[in-house]
Amino acid sequence: MEIKEQLYEGKAKKVYATEDPAIVMVHYKDDATAGDGAKKGTIQDKGVVNNRLSNALMQRLELEGIPTHYVQELNDRDTLVKRVQIVPLEVIIRNVAAGSFSKRYGVEEGTVLSAPTLEFSYKNDDLHDPLINHYHALALDLATQAELDTIATYAFKVNEVLKKILLEANIRLIDFKLEFGRLEDGTIILADEISPDTCRFWDAITGAHLDKDLFRRDLGGEAGAYQEVMHRLLNQ
Ligand code: TMP
Ligand code: ASP
Repeated sequence: MEIKEQLYEGKAKKVYATEDPAIVMVHYKDDATAGDGAKKGTIQDKGVVNNRLSNALMQRLELEGIPTHYVQELNDRDTLVKRVQIVPLEVIIRNVAAGSFSKRYGVEEGTVLSAPTLEFSYKNDDLHDPLINHYHALALDLATQAELDTIATYAFKVNEVLKKILLEANIRLIDFKLEFGRLEDGTIILADEISPDTCRFWDAITGAHLDKDLFRRDLGGEAGAYQEVMHRLLNQ
């Protein structure tokens, strides 16, 4: 597949056109930001870990009936994916209180929620990705009712599948963020990435953070934690 011009550069990835208009190539960078870009840095080989881990998890999800954008891993940092129009929603699933949920609702980090919960944020950096509800998403024309239903069903299913895979590697899935996209014919599929950038992973025994919170909170050890998650999940 011939790789063509760069279409887009985000905070953690670049996207390139290919000779096939329905396929793009994603390149994963080591760049890391937090607080809407207020903190900038790099996490060594994060791009490699996120690329390989996201691809492996998306392949597992496909086997469980979740359609994803994954097409083919080209090398350590580059992957072919289906071109989609991204639905401008960050879809967050939480099993355990942490981060903004703990702050907003005054619930101590680590409190197990009585039921997994779902939040939508409006994906808009200028507005700092504000929390919105289902009705806001409809009012703002971000997605249709049918699309929101599909997205919620997929997101909770992703949670069940990921929780199980991670627990086998002694990792607790605290919460995570998904993004969905529309194919040309309107079909909703899982897009973006599933990685320690977009999930909270806690060691099931020690409770240690194994994710980007190490970077966000200046705790240190993030590069090693990313490698640890890759070793545990991919045996390499
Ligand atoms: P939060 O507690 O800060 O709202 O984060 C919830 C989850 O979403 C957590 O697993 C980290 C992930 N996340 C992203 O992937 N991108 C973001 O920009 C933010 C703020 C959180
Ligand atoms: N998306 C956030 C930012 O760019 C990063 C994060 O907290 O994951 O600042």
